[in-house]
Amino acid sequence: MKVDVLLGLQWGDEGKGKVVDVLTPKYDVITRFQGGPNAGHTLEFDNFKHVLHNIPSGIFHSDKVNIIGNGVVLDPITFKKEIDGLKEKGFDILKNLHISKKAHLILPTHRILDAASEASKGKTKIGSTLKGIGPTYMDKTGRNGLRVGDVLTNFEEKYEALKAKHVEMLKMYDFEYNIEEFEAGLQEGIECLRNCILIDSEHAINKYIKEEKTILAEGAQGTLLDIDFGSYPFVTSSNTICAGACTGMGVAPNKIGEVYGIFKAYCTRVGSGPFPTELFDETGEEIRKAGHEFGSTTGRPRRCGWIDLVALKYAVMINGVTQLIMTKGDVLSDFDTIKVATAYKIDGVVTEEFPYDINDCEVEPVYTDLPGWKKDLTGLKSESEFPQELSDYISFLEKELEVPIKIVSVGPDRDQTIVR
Ligand code: GDP
Ligand code: IMO
Ligand code: MG
Repeated sequence: MKVDVLLGLQWGDEGKGKVVDVLTPKYDVITRFQGGPNAGHTLEFDNFKHVLHNIPSGIFHSDKVNIIGNGVVLDPITFKKEIDGLKEKGFDILKNLHISKKAHLILPTHRILDAASEASKGKTKIGSTLKGIGPTYMDKTGRNGLRVGDVLTNFEEKYEALKAKHVEMLKMYDFEYNIEEFEAGLQEGIECLRNCILIDSEHAINKYIKEEKTILAEGAQGTLLDIDFGSYPFVTSSNTICAGACTGMGVAPNKIGEVYGIFKAYCTRVGSGPFPTELFDETGEEIRKAGHEFGSTTGRPRRCGWIDLVALKYAVMINGVTQLIMTKGDVLSDFDTIKVATAYKIDGVVTEEFPYDINDCEVEPVYTDLPGWKKDLTGLKSESEFPQELSDYISFLEKELEVPIKIVSVGPDRDQTIVR
């Protein structure tokens, strides 16, 4: 079987965790392939809500294998906290969790470097989640990093050497820190990792493929945060796009099957950077309130705006999306009119192509107005109950994006999911 990939088409938080959990019964194996605890994936079922950061969203189905792939960066401290939190809620998940020995480790000094770098940038900061993502991927590509497999040998020695290097680097910044505070829980985290199932995940995944097992790869962040194609430099430090699934798992491009692209019926962004359709008025506030748009990882208010088809088309193209998933249409139920950006006007020139730079120029979205559905969607069970205006909205997006919308999510719960 080929590997299906589910990934975000906007600036993250599209509802990936919820939908991966919904799709998990169809699959044998769920994998994460990039990012780290900067992700916050929310799942709700049976009046239970949980936010996952390092662990794949298939973990609540006890008969499935969940793999943290080589492309992920793993923080032993937050990882252990996550495991302990799940245990407290009655989920003992370690027997179903396999971790690539090639995944890189986020160390306490990576988090300090992240904080120091952001502080030094002042107004131009990225708005990082401060989980140490950037510095860890820098050490990976700089060929200095420590990997999960290192916990099995002389980790402590290697850690002290890299830490010393980082302490020297930190002298570059005017930044005060207490290293012991950041190191709290490291030893326990490393011990916890030593007791996990550590594997050569590229071999395992390719074996599953040969055995005709079904695999779903769960993206983190979103296409517009991709290191190559996102709104650079206001991006994360990994390839969030479909190609990242190949390098982040050791799966050849011809082994990729369906590509599920997930997006909100509107758009949000958390952190700094350009956002052409952002709303600074009461409408934006209304969306934030109705959609509970506050970061799952940091609690920061998310910036809200209308859906942006210029950016979405770009994301569909870059990822080779074969099926679309739309979430949070229920959040727009109170609006008489819903706006859809179909083009950008830059220096008087109209374009439908996502441009090289949207940071340093005035981007004026060109909007088409569509009538709102003015109906609560959260109790709907099938497409036949859709208000006409919602069906028209979906048809409009499908025509523009040239890909079918196969799943419509109408609330945070597992059950609030309609397959078309
Ligand atoms: P992820 O990072 O892509 O997994 O998304 P997050 O969990 O960070 O943010 C999505 C938020 O929207 C979470 O609070 C979900 O519980 C919630 N959510 C997901 N789908 C829907 C939906 O269709 N409607 C509503 N109202 N909430 C949703
Ligand atoms: P999920 O998987 C939304 C954003 C941060 C910041 C930028 C860089 O839940 O969709 P980083 O911590 O990676 O250095 O931050 O990327 N960001 C996210 N925004 N959802 C996420 O993950 C994000 N992960 C990172 O806010 O702007
Ligand atoms: Mg999230």
